[in-house]
Amino acid sequence: MNRKDLLDIQSLETEEIYEILDTAVPFKEIFTRSVKRVPSLRGKTIVNIFFEPSTRTRTSFELAAKRLSADVINIASERSSFVKGESLIDTFHTLLAMKADLFVMRHSFAGACHFLAERIPVPIINAGDGAHEHPTQALLDLFTIRENKGTLSGVKVAIIGDIAFSRVARSNLWALTKVGADVHITGPATLLPKGIERMGAKVCRRVEEALDGADVVYMLRIQKERQGSHFFPTIREYYHLFGLTPNRLSLAKPDAIVMHPGPMNRGVEINDYVADGPASRIHDQVTNGVAIRMAVLFLLATQHHPQTAHELAAEE
Ligand code: CP
Repeated sequence: MNRKDLLDIQSLETEEIYEILDTAVPFKEIFTRSVKRVPSLRGKTIVNIFFEPSTRTRTSFELAAKRLSADVINIASERSSFVKGESLIDTFHTLLAMKADLFVMRHSFAGACHFLAERIPVPIINAGDGAHEHPTQALLDLFTIRENKGTLSGVKVAIIGDIAFSRVARSNLWALTKVGADVHITGPATLLPKGIERMGAKVCRRVEEALDGADVVYMLRIQKERQGSHFFPTIREYYHLFGLTPNRLSLAKPDAIVMHPGPMNRGVEINDYVADGPASRIHDQVTNGVAIRMAVLFLLATQHHPQTAHELAAEE
């Protein structure tokens, strides 16, 4: 992997995806030790800056950095000078003046990380930008699928729900099609973006078609915070048509696994018996998120990228 930042899955080579997954394997083994820490990033300073709420991503990036022995600073935008009107770029230059080595950022605007990546000399990792991408989520999902199915190529994955507003769906579509998975998507017609099939997935009109013989059932959260108006009549009707119940799950393969990026809307996209049942890998996804984020932090923070014009010239 030879890149400064991790901004999206779309621009990743398939080999880079596998390099990240393979790097995460030994990091996950550390979790079984009594001392869950390695010195790989000792002396590095990692700044997590989140302009949107998060439980899983923010905590797991912090834990990943700490398990690599880095120093971690967490900044919540509502408690920073951002609320006094400081610009995004001034905020980052302030943190760079304190010698931050790597940033992890979540922002409500699609492309916010791309904007910064062109303007700051240290790596930045996209922890979710609007409805655009959430690359480390897709990577931890691939890791979880491979761990359970032994492979990614040819695995039938049914992605169900709010495709239009989901950065998780977009990153997973890029990731799964790059590794040769057989991706089927479905949801309310109002939440299926036009032309989505060009990303390589088969669009199914009925949820039963997507579920038929699936190896993996991936339920998406209804993104209430991004939906400006009503895209389906009622929650009750949504659950009736698309909610994952034990009956619906029985259409998938007997050894199918159920995944969800969290946070779940129980009784909306997923039934309690499925969410907490034997096929659920939802907690494993969270565990694997720490390993994947350790791998990404390690790969980006241990590369040397020229930071000044002088260094650039010296490398030429
Ligand atoms: N999956 C995910 O991004 O969850 P959080 O919003 O809790 O980080």
